[in-house]
Amino acid sequence: MVAPFRIDGGGTALVFAGVPHGPLLAYAGEGLAPDTDLDALVAAVATGPRENRPDDGADLLTVLPQPGWGFGGEPAVQLDRPARFESAGHEATADAVTFRFRDPLLGLALTLEWGFVPSGLLVTRASLANHGDARVGLLWLAALALPLPSWATRAVETGGRWGGEFAWHEAPLSTGRVEKAARGGRTGFDGAAFAIATDGAAREETGRIVAAHLAWSGNARHFIETLSSGERQLQIGERLEPGEATLAPGEVYATPPALTSFGADGLNGVRRRFHAELRDRSPPLAGPRRVHFNSWEAVYFDLSEPTLLDLADAAADIGAERFVLDDGWFRGRRDDRTSLGDWTVDRHVFPNGLHPLIERVRARGLDFGLWVEPEMVSPDSELHRAHPDWCLHAAGRPRPTQRGQLALDLGRGEVRDHLFVSLDRLLRDHAIAYLKWDHNRDLFPVGSARAQALGFYELVDRLRAAHPRVEIESCASGGGRIDFGVLSRAARVWASDNTDAVERLRLHRAMSVFLPPEVIGAHVGASPNPTTGRRLGMAFRARAALFAHLGVEADPRRMTDRERETLRRHLELYKRHRALIHGGRQSLIDTDDTGVTAQIVVAPDRREALALLARVDQAVAGAAAPVRLPGLDPAARYRVTLPEPWPGRAARQLADPDRWRAGPILSGEALARAGLRLPLVHPETAWLVHLEQVL
Ligand code: GLA
Repeated sequence: MVAPFRIDGGGTALVFAGVPHGPLLAYAGEGLAPDTDLDALVAAVATGPRENRPDDGADLLTVLPQPGWGFGGEPAVQLDRPARFESAGHEATADAVTFRFRDPLLGLALTLEWGFVPSGLLVTRASLANHGDARVGLLWLAALALPLPSWATRAVETGGRWGGEFAWHEAPLSTGRVEKAARGGRTGFDGAAFAIATDGAAREETGRIVAAHLAWSGNARHFIETLSSGERQLQIGERLEPGEATLAPGEVYATPPALTSFGADGLNGVRRRFHAELRDRSPPLAGPRRVHFNSWEAVYFDLSEPTLLDLADAAADIGAERFVLDDGWFRGRRDDRTSLGDWTVDRHVFPNGLHPLIERVRARGLDFGLWVEPEMVSPDSELHRAHPDWCLHAAGRPRPTQRGQLALDLGRGEVRDHLFVSLDRLLRDHAIAYLKWDHNRDLFPVGSARAQALGFYELVDRLRAAHPRVEIESCASGGGRIDFGVLSRAARVWASDNTDAVERLRLHRAMSVFLPPEVIGAHVGASPNPTTGRRLGMAFRARAALFAHLGVEADPRRMTDRERETLRRHLELYKRHRALIHGGRQSLIDTDDTGVTAQIVVAPDRREALALLARVDQAVAGAAAPVRLPGLDPAARYRVTLPEPWPGRAARQLADPDRWRAGPILSGEALARAGLRLPLVHPETAWLVHLEQVL
């Protein structure tokens, strides 16, 4: 029996105790004093003899629960034959541990690595090596199998759909399993790569939470299972199809990493750790994140050189800094049924190539971005005619399309080489600063999602090595490929095709649990909104996109002068505050009025902060409740101003406009405890609050 030991990181302690067939997690949670008596702690939480259990009496819910020892729940490792791994020791440091297991009969070695990283997250991986002499099929290997603390009594699932990503579903855990799986070969809309367990209704500022994420862009799966004993476990890993991970003698399979946050500091604690982690992993950028102008919802496929030159001028006039030509630019692409794969400029639309447009864009001080969807091919394309076997397909079976397209087999080296050459040429021949990299269909009916994801990573990595300054955005029909695997390569994600500001406030709130604001692409859309039909004023639309990487996805030529002016002023506000928004600590605020959504971003030195207080529906009460502003230095004094333009109708209800203009001074403590009462009664009201320390 191994003596209890612990690893610590980011204010979290994990205490392990040895049982004959694998380590038990005796404690996972807030930090423990260095001199904590671990023997006493383990004894205090140990289970005694119970009915209906194997006679060795050992606990079964270890960090590698297995049926071979009598565990009746879902195992952490599943093979195409019965296996039984026994513990083969561990090596631990202060913040990391490697557990070793083996199955001597099958000749298999299994390793679990658990370690804290500077962000405070626990990073875990598992691997299986075949040292035997027969091929072994692997069906499941959890990157993390976590026995949950007993306070974990509710689950949050973040599955959504196209145009409605990251929907927030909370439910109490009862018996059985809550499970999410991504089967479409990309991270997908189902929330399979994100798992959250809480101690009650999820709150922003308080509450115990475990949140886990699989940093992987292919199929994923997680579940939370309640055993008949009342114990619970959470597992997360890559979802494997039978035959997809067959290990020949000498071969090894390693899971993608799972990242896990433990804390008693609410969703904001989860945010703090995941944001810090992504900021460590994100590709470095040359400068601040530029204001995008994206042509898609402005003109869709209605492209011509004069139209785009006009649009470039209109984008420059409102203050955009990057012009993104979205779809429709390549040979024969007049609608979404054709031409994917043919990545050369369409000479009917651009008789002089893309150069005149790029020159105009650059002359106006913007840089240029282009949409591509490299992993796809249209049946009606030169590429498909030349290489009909390059798409994922099963010989002799039909080739069903989605959005009129097929997926290329990125497991094949020649396909990746061809894509590299086409994209490399495009980037060499044009001054392109940014690629919006799309992926608009699931992978079916066949193909290895694993090979596809690995092929995608290899292609992007090769392209980034050749063009390190080109920024890449991950888009998959909106937010269908959002994870830390792609985000260690892509600078940002297109969060959703839904640009409706009310929807976006909800979406950004949920997404921000894992993603910092700077990687969330958010564009000011048209009114009425093309997806929802909702009409919203320009100031509200612009404010909803401000706490993100901001852009514009509407035709400025079709806006009124007043709308253009309001938009211009908000783009200026974004430029003034983007260093703060993109580098500060973001907290969402628990409001007393659930119709108000509020957040604050505080600079790392707490000298400055910016908050957004927004109402999305009509209030029941006639006077809105004060909103408390957390995260400031309680002892410091802050000048509070409300950046203009103010929301018109609400501004008329301000208690003392002159005082707000002059900027009252309040302590961080008063702001956190008493808060600010701004008029927030009417729908579509959004206030910005700027706070600056007065020395
Ligand atoms: C997908 C993307 C959109 C846009 C279109 C272009 O739907 O999510 O943002 O780029 O493709 O066809």
